Order: sequence, then C-alpha cells, then structure tokens
Amino acid sequence: EMSPEERHFQEKIDAEIKIEAKNWMPEAYRRTLIRQISQHAHSEIVGMLPEKNWLTRAPSFKRKLQLLAKIQDEAGHGLYLYSAMETLGADRDEEVAKLHRGEVKYSSIFNYPTRSWADMGTIGWLVDGAAIVNQVVLQRTSYGPYSRAMIRICKEESFHQRQGYEILLTMMREGNDEQKAMVQDSINRFWWPALMMFGPTDTDSPNSAQSMAWKIKRMSNDDLRQRFIDQTIPQLELLGCTAPDPDLKWNEERGHYDFGEIDWSEFYDVLKGNGPCNRERLRTRREAIDNGDWVREAATAYASKQQQKQHAA
Ligand code: 3HC
Repeated sequence: EMSPEERHFQEKIDAEIKIEAKNWMPEAYRRTLIRQISQHAHSEIVGMLPEKNWLTRAPSFKRKLQLLAKIQDEAGHGLYLYSAMETLGADRDEEVAKLHRGEVKYSSIFNYPTRSWADMGTIGWLVDGAAIVNQVVLQRTSYGPYSRAMIRICKEESFHQRQGYEILLTMMREGNDEQKAMVQDSINRFWWPALMMFGPTDTDSPNSAQSMAWKIKRMSNDDLRQRFIDQTIPQLELLGCTAPDPDLKWNEERGHYDFGEIDWSEFYDVLKGNGPCNRERLRTRREAIDNGDWVREAATAYASKQQQKQHAA
C-alpha cells in the first residue's frame, strides 16, 4: 500500500513531471539513481584510459588533436555526472573510493585492451555509438539533473562517434591491406563487448522493472541493444567489414536483425573483475588519485590562506 507521498510521487512520474533534488522521493529511488549515475560517471573517467594509450602514438597531429578533444570531453562528462550524483546527497570522494576498492562497477567495455590505432576508430564508432543509443533515451529519465546532464552529453557524443567512424572509413578507403585487416581485427575484438554495454538480457536484469516503473529507464536493455544493432549494420557494410557473428541476418517479418547468443559468462566474468584490464584500470585510477594528493593539498592550503586574508581585511 503506497503512502500519500509515494502516491503523489508516482503521479508526478506518470505525468512526466521531472523530479528535482529538493522534491520528496522514495529512499530507494535516490539510492538506485546514486548507483546508476555514479557508475555512469566512473565509466566516463575510466573510459579515458584505453584511449590515452594511443594519444602519443596517433598517426597524425590532426588525429592526436581529435583524440585529445574526445578524452577531454569524457572527463567533462564524468564531472557533469558526479555533480548530478551529488544533488542526491552522495559524496564524490566516497563514491570514487568505492570504485577504487572494487565495490562498484563501471562499463565493462573499458576492461578490454586497445591493441591498434584502429581501436580508436572502433571505440568512437561502436562504443560511443552504443553509449549514444543509451544516452539519447536516457535524456527522458525522470530525475531532472540526470536528464539535463544527458542532453548536454549527447551533443558531444555524436562528434565522438563520427570521428571514430571517419578513422575507420579512411583506413578502409585509403589504407593498405594490412591497415584494412587492422580495422576488421578491431571490429572482431570489440563487437560482442559493445553489445554487452547494454547490460544483461531483460529477464536477467534485476534493476529494470523498478527503473522502468520510476521512468529512470525508458527502454529495456534488449530493445536498446536491438536498436543499436539495426542502425550499425548498414554502417558496417558501408565500411566493407563484417561482424564476428554468423547468425547475424535481417529478419523481414521482425523488421530487425537477428543475431547470435552473447557469451554471458564473459560478461559476468568481466563484471566480477576478471576482464583483461580490470586490475590495470583500477591501479591506474588509484595511482592518479594518490599522485594528485599534493595538488589538492596545495589548492586547499591556498584556499584557506585566501579566506584568512579576506577575514583579516
Ligand atoms: N558494465 C558493467 N556493469 C553492468 C553493465 C556493463 N556493461 N551492464 C549492466 N551492468 C550491471 C548493472 O550496473 C547492475 O549492477 P549493479 O546493480 O551493481 O549496479 C547489473 O549489471 C544488472 O544490470 P541491470 O540491467 O539490472 O542494471 P541497470 O538497470 O542499471 O542497467 C545500464 C544497466 C543499462 C548500464 C544502466 O545502468 C544505464 O543505462 N546506465 C547509464 C548508461 C551508462 O552507464 N553507460 C556507460 C557506457 S560508457 C559511457 O557512457 C561513456 C561513453 O563516453 C562511451
């Protein structure tokens, strides 16, 4: 039986009225949003690491600048999302400490290594492409600050996807056989992990039912995954590449592509921390925080000195 506040809250959700930080909300609504937004923010920050690997090895100055701009955007997305999370009363340092203790998640996709320059294209095209499919729908999430962060982030993501696709198109059209093989190898390595970004299949998704009832989630994991595949295959064909899935084929009566079974044991393995790069990613993040301690101390010391001056004046 709902309490009067809960009934009023659900009526606002049903009426598509955005929930704002100062509004009453069920504790569980607050908690699941902190869970999702903090992990989304962690994904943006950890997601900078695989790309950093190729910053010093970019094939041209232009490609280096594009990659640098994309990495800086990801950092900004992380900061928007940590700020959205803080409106729910969560503490940023505490949530980051949970990440570094391996207690909370970030997107599985960032636990895969980036072995070639083509991976920078594939990450932009497939990974940011998948993130866009998810985030465009997430613009309609019921929590105001999260929805507004998404609207801003989506504008920048489309640049990421296009510059990634352009890298691959350039390699396929102007590259030699070795470079074309590099593109196909990159797609082979990232195709299935990109599909896993959308989460477990709906029947295995413990958070979906409640998240859909509260309109935090507006489309199911499987529907978003299907939408991503349907829009990506034509782009894959334009590249002259294939997906590593023999069961992939257009299904006329469904009006969608049929595709093969995802290896869920790999998915849950990566979530447990046993992906190829999990330990390296968290170690790098911990070192970044530890090595940055002196900057925070200096900034705090400077700030308190400024305050003393103001009080004295
Ligand atoms: N990687 C890591 N964990 C995942 C995951 C993935 N690909 N997919 C699902 N999970 C986790 C969930 O977080 C949940 O664990 P938790 O309860 O400890 O949080 C568990 O697996 C079960 O999944 P559910 O479907 O029940 O969980 P959700 O309802 O939260 O759905 C989600 C998962 C679709 C990822 C949803 O949380 C979401 O839409 N999050 C916002 C989008 C996001 O985080 N995107 C990250 C992509 S990377 C990115 O955006 C950066 C870009 O610049 C590339």
